Amino acid sequence: MMQKVLIAGVSGAIGSHMARELLKRDPRVRLFGLCRQPEKLPEDLAHSPRMTLLAWDAAAPDAASAVAAELATRLPAEEGLDAVVYAAGVLHGGGMFPEKRVEELEADALSHALQVNASGFALLVSALLPWLQHRQFKRVMAISAKVGSITDNRFGGWYAYRSSKAALNMLVKTLSVELPRRSGPLACVAVHPGTTRSPLSEPFSRSLAQLQVHTASETAAHLVTLMNGLEERHNGCFLSWDGSELPW
Ligand SMILES: NC(=O)c1ccc[n+]([C@@H]2O[C@H](COP(=O)([O-])OP(=O)(O)OC[C@H]3O[C@@H](n4cnc5c(N)ncnc54)[C@H](OP(=O)(O)O)[C@@H]3O)[C@@H](O)[C@H]2O)c1
Repeated sequence: MMQKVLIAGVSGAIGSHMARELLKRDPRVRLFGLCRQPEKLPEDLAHSPRMTLLAWDAAAPDAASAVAAELATRLPAEEGLDAVVYAAGVLHGGGMFPEKRVEELEADALSHALQVNASGFALLVSALLPWLQHRQFKRVMAISAKVGSITDNRFGGWYAYRSSKAALNMLVKTLSVELPRRSGPLACVAVHPGTTRSPLSEPFSRSLAQLQVHTASETAAHLVTLMNGLEERHNGCFLSWDGSELPW
C-alpha cells in the first residue's frame, strides 16, 4: 500500500503524469512533489488538496537538507514515506547537448548531469532517511535510462548523460545494500521508463520514429503498476517499464 509518496521532478512529463496516476488510482494517496518552480506546476496538480509542493533544485548546494527541513514542517518524519520516486533528470539545455564525439564533452555539462541525474538522487535519499525508518515495506525508485547500461552501450556518444545514468545506477545498487540494514523491508530500484514523448526527448523526435514511443501518461501508468508490484526480491535490480530485468 502506498499512501505517502514523494516525487522529485514532479514538474516533468513523467513525474507529473505519475502524480496524476497515483492520485487517480487511490483516493487515500498523499503526494509530496519536489520541483524547481512549484508556482509553474499545472493547476490540477498544484491545487490538489492531496499534493504538498516543495521547492528543490538538485544542482543547488544543500538542496536535499533544505527540502528535508521543509518537509519536516509538513510531514513529521515518524509518519514516514511509503515511496520515493526520483523523476528529475537532464539531457539537454543550459549549454548541455548529447555529445556525438568526445571533443564535444564539456566539464561543466558532465558535472551538471552528474548533479541532477545522479548525486541529487543519493543526497535526497540520505536526507529522507528519517522518513524511511518505519516497519512497512518501502519503495525507492530512481528513473534511470537504458542508455546508462554499460553492458548495453553499443552505439557510444551521449557521454555526459550515459555516464550520469551509469553513476545513478551504481548509487541505486549501493543504496540497495545499505538501506535494508538501516531501514528495514524495502526495494531500491533503477527503472528505464521506456522512450516517452517529453521535453527531454523532443529534440530527438526524428530518431524516435524508429522506436516504440509512449505518451507520458502511458509511461506513468506502466511505472505506477511496476512500483505497486515491487517486492523485496526486486531490491537492487535495474528494471525496464514492463518489469523485465536490464543488464547493468
Ligand atoms: N523521455 C524519455 O524518453 C526518457 C527515456 C529514458 C529515461 N528518461 C528519464 O526520465 C526522467 C524524466 O524525464 P522526462 O522525460 O519526464 O523529462 P522532462 O519532462 O524534461 O522532466 C525533467 C524533470 O527534471 C527536472 N529537473 C531538471 N533539472 C533539474 C534541477 N536542476 N533540479 C531539479 N529538477 C530538475 C525538471 O524540472 P523543472 O521543471 O524544474 O525543469 C523536470 O521535472 C529523467 O530522469 C530522464 O532521464 C526519460
